[in-house]
Amino acid sequence: MFTVISILLALCSSSLCGTAQNVRSIPKHILLGAASSAFQVEGAWNIDGKTESIADHLVHSQKCYAKDCSNADVAANSYYMYKRDVEMLRELGVDFYRFSLSWTRILPTGFPDKVNEAGVQYYSNLIDELLKYKIQPVVTIFHWDLPQKLQQLGGWTNPHIVNWYGDFARVAFSLFGDRVKYWITINEPHQLCHYGYGSPYIPPAMNLTGEADYLCSKNVLLAHARGYHIYDKEFRLWQEGMIFITINAEWFEPESEHDYEAAIDANQFWWGLYTHPILSRSGDYPEIVKHRIAVMSTKQGLLRSRLPELSSEEINYIRGTTDILGLNHYTSYLAYRNASTEEYYGNITGPSFDADCGAMNYQPGDWQIGETNATMYAPWGFYKLLTFIRFEYDNIPVFITENGFGNSGALIDDDRVLYYRGYLSAMLDAICDGSHIVGYTTWSLMDSFEWPNGYSIRIGLYQVDYNNTSLPRTPRKSAYVYKEIIRSRTLDMNYEPDMTIPLSVDNSTSNRLTHI
Ligand code: BGC
Repeated sequence: MFTVISILLALCSSSLCGTAQNVRSIPKHILLGAASSAFQVEGAWNIDGKTESIADHLVHSQKCYAKDCSNADVAANSYYMYKRDVEMLRELGVDFYRFSLSWTRILPTGFPDKVNEAGVQYYSNLIDELLKYKIQPVVTIFHWDLPQKLQQLGGWTNPHIVNWYGDFARVAFSLFGDRVKYWITINEPHQLCHYGYGSPYIPPAMNLTGEADYLCSKNVLLAHARGYHIYDKEFRLWQEGMIFITINAEWFEPESEHDYEAAIDANQFWWGLYTHPILSRSGDYPEIVKHRIAVMSTKQGLLRSRLPELSSEEINYIRGTTDILGLNHYTSYLAYRNASTEEYYGNITGPSFDADCGAMNYQPGDWQIGETNATMYAPWGFYKLLTFIRFEYDNIPVFITENGFGNSGALIDDDRVLYYRGYLSAMLDAICDGSHIVGYTTWSLMDSFEWPNGYSIRIGLYQVDYNNTSLPRTPRKSAYVYKEIIRSRTLDMNYEPDMTIPLSVDNSTSNRLTHI
């Protein structure tokens, strides 16, 4: 009896911002959903007319690109199992599903000369299945799986990609824009350019730091802007949707009071490079980034900065091209710069993003929760990031498009539950202070091909059993907890689900087609 009364009291007194933080309400206008990306879950890599993407190419040409030497030829087989995926979304009761389009499934040549009917049908079916159950599709046009053909032409280092991407985006709007009201132009420019072109971590693994990554940065900004302008001029009026970019921003915190500058520089290099040109009043790259790269380039005897300039016409073309900000966030770092840092970077003579930035970063061991350090836990960094964005960019509405925790995959994932509770709570703290958050997305709906980690790191609310050819999906404890968060629009730090009861579709929770 006492427990019942205390639960009732807790529920009655649950508020968003009060001091009793164990049960907090989540504002009703915030959309809650889950995400995935095409290459990471679809499989069917060469089926029904789909051609090779840079991701297919990488996993096939470097058999052990992924730690576990796996590939994504089948992955979670979502190309065939999308109905089960939608059923999982209904079990969770989400408002929306964020997924991405595979460019080579829709345009096998990379160009709009040939549209692949079977590929179009797949996405059309997925969208219809979602809408049937009142789940909003949130569609990422590009999540890293560029056509290999376009990579042979230089990929994101070739300025023509602005046209190529624009053409693909136009095809996507024409095909699906009658039903899709949320478009994300490009996923994570920093990861795409820095890890894809400046390092060997994600496709195409070019590993040309301080050069290819900056060519990519400029082209990505212009391509994003192209997608935005096409939607704005040719489609918005009759499709009535919104379009935005998703950047990944991890928070760099000064290690000590002497390290403010290092932390500012790290934040600007890692993500300000993309937010500043789009969101600031002046546009263009952040001054400090331009300055540091220009100085280093001169020292290296180059005639111009390795960061290609944006002309004033380009600055204007890019500035203001996002309706809201899509934000992916996983973790934070401590940043510092001291005499040994200077010496360390001083010894790097060639082009280097890290030397240009000139700040060191690390994550203290005690940020580890659970058995792996795949995602380090520092929810206060999320709060600081959201607060910084609020002040820096006129409180632009923010859609959290990814947040999640990697571990080795147990069904009882208390570490992930702790992580989600901590990060959602930090988000609520930021909202209480005035941050304008419109949506929150868990990464990921299900286990997927985690780039260089293959399947060795699991990050899904649903476990995928890759040892079973039918690839069954099983909800983890975090799925039960997220479902309850969505159902009750409440973050209850002590809620313990009964996992003996199968997670089932609850029609009362998945029947709202909400909009921002
Ligand atoms: C990417 C995802 C990836 C996730 C977790 C994000 O940066 O957008 O594709 O799976 O991180 O590693």
